Amino acid sequence: MASLPRSVVREWPYTIARPGVYKGGTKSLQAFRNAGFRESEAFFSKDLVRNGDSAMTRLLLRGFDIRKGYLDAEAQTALVDRLRPILKSAPLFRPTTASGKQMSVRMTSAGPLGWVSDSAGYRYQASHPKGMAWPAIPDEILSIWQDVADADRLPDCCLINYYGEGTKMGMHQDKDEADFSWPVVSISLGDDALFRIGNTTRGGKTEAVWLNSGDVVVMGGPARLTYHGVDRIRFGSSRLLPKGGRINLTLRVAT
Ligand code: SIN
Ligand code: MN
Repeated sequence: MASLPRSVVREWPYTIARPGVYKGGTKSLQAFRNAGFRESEAFFSKDLVRNGDSAMTRLLLRGFDIRKGYLDAEAQTALVDRLRPILKSAPLFRPTTASGKQMSVRMTSAGPLGWVSDSAGYRYQASHPKGMAWPAIPDEILSIWQDVADADRLPDCCLINYYGEGTKMGMHQDKDEADFSWPVVSISLGDDALFRIGNTTRGGKTEAVWLNSGDVVVMGGPARLTYHGVDRIRFGSSRLLPKGGRINLTLRVAT
């Protein structure tokens, strides 16, 4: 496994740390195993230890750059506060696939474009299914993209997926975007999710990792078209969202 480039843990917009959880050494290796990794599958970066008792762990799994604990508790709460008015003006809806199957996840979007799916198929469009424009993407979310995406343009869609009890997302590729050279950046908030990573073609061996609240994943480069999905969530594992469940934000350059 190639080692990851050394990177800087930024102070802004928030403290990027999860104190006491991943420290380096055997204790952290155990935490790392508990998070669902085998040592051969991921890279544990001691370079990112910022001081004696806090660290962000960056893991590389099949080209997915997984930043465990990127957002601390305060930053997660702040982000949920920023999402509240968005969910009010662009309510979650439950999309159906072109074949008429209802997805278990509910979703909405922020940004100039939003992702929708109905009997006409998957696409990005400028308005919510109820007709209004999507709300703007909050600056705090764009800042995360600017920090992790290594891209000189901003995303034009922030897809907001809400996973309630018993929901999942089947293995899929993100391929409705015009240019796959831009990454997709995922931000997890709320309950833990078992995130499955496959291959660039359907089928074959897969690996799964638990994503926790505050984790950020960059899906880019050769892994941009890798199949991925969510097997299940651990409903009630986090207290971030008042009614439980999980929000996953994916930032995308659609056009
Ligand atoms: C997605 O693939 O669109 C969502 C991934 C996730 O919920 O972690
Ligand atoms: Mn996806």
